[in-house]
Amino acid sequence: MVTPAKTVELFRRLSEAPGPSGQEGEVRAIIRPEVEKLVDEVRTDTLGDLIAHRKGRGKRVMIAAHMDEVALMVSHIEKEGLLRFRKVGGIDDRVLLTKTVYVGKDRLPGVIGAKPIHLQDPKERGQVIRLDNLFIDIGAKSQEEAEKLVKVGEYAVFTTSFERFGGGLVKGKALDDRAGCMVLLETLRSLRETALKLDVYGVFTVQEEVGTRGAAVTAYDIAPDIGFVLEGTVCSDTPGTDPQGQSTVIGAGPAISIMDAGTIADRRMVDFLVATADENGIPHQFRRATSGGNDGARIHLAREGAPTASISVPCRYIHSPVSVCSLDDLQNAARLLEAALKKIAEGGLKL
Ligand code: CO
Repeated sequence: MVTPAKTVELFRRLSEAPGPSGQEGEVRAIIRPEVEKLVDEVRTDTLGDLIAHRKGRGKRVMIAAHMDEVALMVSHIEKEGLLRFRKVGGIDDRVLLTKTVYVGKDRLPGVIGAKPIHLQDPKERGQVIRLDNLFIDIGAKSQEEAEKLVKVGEYAVFTTSFERFGGGLVKGKALDDRAGCMVLLETLRSLRETALKLDVYGVFTVQEEVGTRGAAVTAYDIAPDIGFVLEGTVCSDTPGTDPQGQSTVIGAGPAISIMDAGTIADRRMVDFLVATADENGIPHQFRRATSGGNDGARIHLAREGAPTASISVPCRYIHSPVSVCSLDDLQNAARLLEAALKKIAEGGLKL
């Protein structure tokens, strides 16, 4: 499959935009003009969720993809001018060391530093350097100088630039869940000229990484009959992980979740998605991990409950400064959702 250069360019802009939980504005500002061309009405709610409404008669379908990414927050400024920080969302301490970050809205460059190997004693060398012993170096000579540039409470995000590589893969930061945002945009784009007997809400949510909070309020607001979640999900198809522990395989198609830590997917929806993929010749796989969670945790519990399923793009090295996904998986996820929506509009999903 060929992914148009324009699509890859939009993915690059989304991946490189900073969007820590609670400060998704830059990501929202990229999505808004894109989605305005594709739906009838676009609005932002109190928390910052972006709700794109494609009006229609028929079942109310909520499709969520989260805008936020895992990041860091400045918690203290040392007298030497170094910044102490906390994590916003799930990041492994081991991936932080010597990474470059942008701090604050003005994107002040920083380096996550620690004691070099030369100065570590043998015991230290065998240990993980934990968050408490790390700091962000912004080149300031003193606390006073640092305080002029940064305030406690400001975010830091990874600086990774987005690139195509290999056979149809991309690498970049925040593919969880800018990949899902792309799938939602691509689906709405391909359905733009199609009449559908469905009331569709494409929701770009906030604060998923800290507890699926945007999904909670939007699902209450929309009161969906059916929910879909589009995610960038865990993939460990690399040497050292047994097939049974891989969760997903890159390039093998969108992953359909059966169960994670927050949701047991509605089995009728799972079967429906598998049948839809088979009928349309769309490669697909099951997400075989049961840990982790996504916005579905809230959506399926909205109001009186809404049958919900997740369609995910496998992402290697997720929740780190750089992850990898396949453009084919992304396109196939959009094809699957598009086919599913058409079928639901025709009454093909029996609930
Ligand atoms: Co996610």
